[in-house]
Amino acid sequence: MIEWNDKYNVNISVIDGDHSIFTDIINKAIVAEQHNNSEEKVKDVLKEMTMYALSHFSTEEAYMIEFGYPKLQHHKEEHHVFTIRTNAYLNRVINGDYQIAGEILEYLKQWLARHIQVTDKKYIDYFGKNGLK
Ligand SMILES: [Fe+2]
Repeated sequence: MIEWNDKYNVNISVIDGDHSIFTDIINKAIVAEQHNNSEEKVKDVLKEMTMYALSHFSTEEAYMIEFGYPKLQHHKEEHHVFTIRTNAYLNRVINGDYQIAGEILEYLKQWLARHIQVTDKKYIDYFGKNGLK
């Protein structure tokens, strides 16, 4: 299991709150893997990923638009890739291939390391300058 760690913080409370939900999703993927890819648990992880993408990405993007963030386009593209990937996993599950908890888990860990800890960190100063806390 992984726990929220201060190193993941962007120090903007609404966003850190969302990101801590992401670590919960990682933990659900770990549980799904431990339960031998239980269909129900894999579906649950994908449902959470879908909801997370819908709500959290639009929150971030709305601030980016509001503040005229210059890297909006690139950031949106990364979000889009996550959404596409989640849909592809869902498609596999619908087609009966749900032995994918390990694969999903690797992808989520990669997202934490490459998007949350790298791409998201790039907007901290910019959002801060625009008064977001
Ligand atoms: Fe993001």
